[in-house]
Amino acid sequence: MAHKVTLIPGDGIGPEITDAVVKIIDAAGVEIEWDKHEAGIPAIQEFGKSVPDGLIDSIKENKVALKGPITTLVGKGFRSANVTLRKKLDLFVNLRPVKSIGGVPSRYDKVDLIIVRENTEDLYTGIENLISPGVTQAIKVVTERASERIARWAFEYAREHGRKKITLVHKANIMKISDGLFLRTFEEVAKEFPDIEAEDRIVDAICMNLVMDPTKFDMLLLGNMFGDIVSDLAAGLVGGLGVVPGANLGDEYAIFEAVHGTAPDIAGKNYANPTALLFSALLMLKHLGQIEAADRIWKSIVVTLAMGNNLTRDLGGKATTTEYRDELIKEIGSRS
Ligand code: NAI
Repeated sequence: MAHKVTLIPGDGIGPEITDAVVKIIDAAGVEIEWDKHEAGIPAIQEFGKSVPDGLIDSIKENKVALKGPITTLVGKGFRSANVTLRKKLDLFVNLRPVKSIGGVPSRYDKVDLIIVRENTEDLYTGIENLISPGVTQAIKVVTERASERIARWAFEYAREHGRKKITLVHKANIMKISDGLFLRTFEEVAKEFPDIEAEDRIVDAICMNLVMDPTKFDMLLLGNMFGDIVSDLAAGLVGGLGVVPGANLGDEYAIFEAVHGTAPDIAGKNYANPTALLFSALLMLKHLGQIEAADRIWKSIVVTLAMGNNLTRDLGGKATTTEYRDELIKEIGSRS
């Protein structure tokens, strides 16, 4: 029976890369009935809302969504559709595996990091005030409930996936109360998992440590803001945003999406690299129990990248999105 999945093409390069990914999954023989919905700017134009009710209903029914990137205007406009979706569906985990892949030009070749970012609070609650002209305030919210929930999720993930160590990243030397609570809660939860090593680092130090030698780390657990920043840094260690996937997970629903944004500089030009969204889709296929198809597509990507034929520009090639897509489809076909 076909899986039903909500598809959010997004904007910018979103429609180009989601189209490529849908065709690649189809070529691998996985039957998916896509329920397509707009979010962000296209949804505002059509429904006057960045996250229309029909989209939320669709994800609640299907439980799983694949999402392209969505523009968030800087310093003005509506609340981020991404933040709204994560809040409304209580997707408290943002999982970002960062792994070196042969054939992708990068600074390191043995990186294998799992980044877990708390997805619902911190500075992303959107509580900002203009105190008086020229004076502003943004509020960082950290609760024991959310800190404990994400810490427990990370330790359980470590156990299930054979990970040995979790490094909690914070700035508790300055934000003694808020990040202090995040750190203390992590240390309490860690006592329940004596088989997993637990350590902590201050965020500025870990940025340097990661650039010096990322292989020293196994799993990182971060709050929402530091998680956003450090995961982009980590993407830079393995070849950039074009190859790093992501998943937003809760107890009931899951949205799979790449780490990167809408890439307005290349949107509509057929240059975009769909690999990060495709890797996100592989996480989705595993979530749906399609392990064999996910492994087959993974092997096809690895071989295509290693051969270096028809790669997109960000990977050092000259191919368009569609040429790269067709190369992958050919490789998948040879393994079916
Ligand atoms: P970006 O990730 O869109 O682009 C940064 C750089 O990476 C650009 O040079 C771009 O061309 C390149 N790049 C990104 N993805 C690529 C891909 N798949 N293939 C080839 N090159 C790629 O970050 P930026 O410019 O800061 O953000 C643009 C917009 O995206 C903003 O409105 C931002 O809010 C939004 N955004 C949305 C996200 C989401 O929907 N999950 C995540 C991050 C940003």
